[in-house]
Amino acid sequence: MQALIDSLAADAPAAAPPCSTETATSSLAERYRVVRERTRRLVASLDPEDMVVQSMPDASPAKWHLAHTTWFFETFLLGPNVPGYAVFDEQFGFLFNSYYEAVGPRHPRPMRGLLTRPPLERVFAYREHVDTHMRTLLATPLDADTEALLRLGLAHEEQHQELLVMDVQHLFAQSPLKPAFDPAWRLPVPGRVARFRRVGGGPVRIGAVDEPFAFDNEGPRHTVWLEPFDIADRLVTNGQWLAFMGMGGYRRADLWLSDGWAQCREEGWEAPSYWQREGEVWSHMTPAGWQPVDPDAAVTHVSYYEADAYARWAGARLPTEAEWEHAVRSRRDLEQVDDVAWQWTASAYTAYPGFRASDDAVGEYNGKFMSGQMVLRGGAMVTPPGHTRVSYRNFYRAGQRWMFSGLRLAHDAGGEREDERDLFLRDTLAGLAAEPKAFSPKYFYDGAGSALFEAICATPEYYPTRTETALLKDIAPELTACIPEGAALLELGSGASEKTRVLLDAAPWIAAYVPLDISPDALEGAAERLRAAYPSLEVHPRVGDFTRAIELPAEVAGRPVVAFFPGSTIGNFTVAEAVELLRSVRSGLGAGSRFIVGADQVKDTGTLIAAYDDAEGVTAAFNRNVLVRINRELGGDFDVGAFEHRAIWNAYRARIEMHLVSRHAQRVTVAGQSFDFAAGESIHTENSHKFTPTSFAALAQAGGWVVEREWVSADPAFGIYVLKAV
Ligand code: SAH
Ligand code: AVI
Repeated sequence: MQALIDSLAADAPAAAPPCSTETATSSLAERYRVVRERTRRLVASLDPEDMVVQSMPDASPAKWHLAHTTWFFETFLLGPNVPGYAVFDEQFGFLFNSYYEAVGPRHPRPMRGLLTRPPLERVFAYREHVDTHMRTLLATPLDADTEALLRLGLAHEEQHQELLVMDVQHLFAQSPLKPAFDPAWRLPVPGRVARFRRVGGGPVRIGAVDEPFAFDNEGPRHTVWLEPFDIADRLVTNGQWLAFMGMGGYRRADLWLSDGWAQCREEGWEAPSYWQREGEVWSHMTPAGWQPVDPDAAVTHVSYYEADAYARWAGARLPTEAEWEHAVRSRRDLEQVDDVAWQWTASAYTAYPGFRASDDAVGEYNGKFMSGQMVLRGGAMVTPPGHTRVSYRNFYRAGQRWMFSGLRLAHDAGGEREDERDLFLRDTLAGLAAEPKAFSPKYFYDGAGSALFEAICATPEYYPTRTETALLKDIAPELTACIPEGAALLELGSGASEKTRVLLDAAPWIAAYVPLDISPDALEGAAERLRAAYPSLEVHPRVGDFTRAIELPAEVAGRPVVAFFPGSTIGNFTVAEAVELLRSVRSGLGAGSRFIVGADQVKDTGTLIAAYDDAEGVTAAFNRNVLVRINRELGGDFDVGAFEHRAIWNAYRARIEMHLVSRHAQRVTVAGQSFDFAAGESIHTENSHKFTPTSFAALAQAGGWVVEREWVSADPAFGIYVLKAV
């Protein structure tokens, strides 16, 4: 960030007001006084020694900041505008020029900390001298160019105010005495984790509007095309970052850009800059000194590389700077926009279309840094109030971390899977907050969960799959009689679609097959295998949640539809949910339609329990996999081994219940929110209701169906029902 460091940017803004009035000039004079005074106050509590040392090449001593900002006014305002102005000290041009080639040679930046001379007192005298002359200059009307330069000088000094805090913080962080920049500094108020907000796409205008001042790099204003996107309404928190760390975020090369991974390894990064761990407790350096890391506060001091890796891990991305600007302009509900941490964007710092740096010295302010840096938007807790704008473009190199940099996530809108993730997150947080804690079993079925379910079906104890398949084969000729010629078969929760084959073999007149499953992994494999095995069958797989409205694909319009719901998956719902589902299928298919449902039957407790607690532990792994999934997809930190699988028979409700029981008292964090478990406390993860012909008929009736035919196998009992919509 060489760039920003000593200054940043701008030539005379295109929108500079015309000639100043007397009033405008005096208010500018007041602005000048306030800004200069603020700098003085910032260093008031520092000792002279604090102001000399340079703790790294990117940082500058406070004394240098005090002098350099003064040099800027002397060089660009007083010299050209005050006839006969004599510079305070001929040597200061060399010492305190930051990077202006047009103004002459300069002292090397990494050696600023070696400038024990001039002494601090002389730097304050320099400030006084320049302020006196500036007061005189500001008492006269300024032309538009001079006023623009003055505004630039003020913005420049404000940038150095922020740099000064950053640099002193970095210096103090090296001290074993643990000094604080300002022990009374009020850190931002922590809060809830972010929600994603939808922002529409299309052509949007980006860049500085007509403002009294903007840096040159904020224009020209121009049109950018955006696709719709979702943006987080708050910044990523320390708690979320801890989850990323806990999940090996700093050890997984697959999450990182190559250059970032190299720097991460080389510099041994394992947490944001300034984070230190004592035992289990993390603390970090802040303007208020060393403080415990607050999980609910926004993470700061992360590089672009870390922000990018985090976003990838979180299944999201960083917003582009145009998305950021458009979101802030178009939504009123984004929080932490400019008062907590600068936000990395996915945009490289380059010129906007039509940008031209001015050809005088201040043309060097921004334009020549437009390579190798990334844009940050917003503003930070150390940014002087009122300094930034919505169009403001801060920029640093991707590996830098001592600035107050954080991140706000974004992702592409509209993708079914992103929506699913949001729901998964919402349901999981709600489930962990509930008493008793509970999850929906539909979240078992990621790729691994679907594979584990298939493995359960192969265990000797899990009788339902084998029993139902055998029964289907036995009754196939009678059962398929209810399927009309040219029909489409709609299967709910089709999984591997193995049982479907029994129907397809017995009813070759089925023309189309619509497997509907929440698990894309299960669905893709199954659809491919069926297409290969039944070349004349139309296969239209649909990823979706069958508890939402059932929509038939347009391709099967006009065909009679028969629904198929094997596996006793209906038993995984509460009675109320099952009734709702039956009604929903009924209204999707219409009166007179048929619904083939497999439903496991009540039987002896030993057989039931064994089926849900197999000796090999496959069901236990299936149950725990939901925690693995939460850790991976939602930034959870479940210690999976600390939860015991338990299957119990609830005779009153005629259901097997699966639970994950906490082996000891523990705290778990998901997406930055913490949840406490007492020893023995459980998460209720699944119900598997078991039926009798009577109870099932009652359920069907409540859902708008009558049982037309039924078959129940001999031990172990499993039922297959043909329902007709009434
Ligand atoms: N029908 C198969 C698979 C049963 S396993 C059989 O009988 O063997 C349950 C299946 O339902 C899984 O494939 C799971 O991904 C799917 N599933 C669970 N809840 C779902 C929901 N709400 N919407 C869609 N599919 C769901
Ligand atoms: C998909 N569903 C019907 C299974 C069941 O039996 O309730 C899921 C399962 N849970 C544990 N084992 C199998």
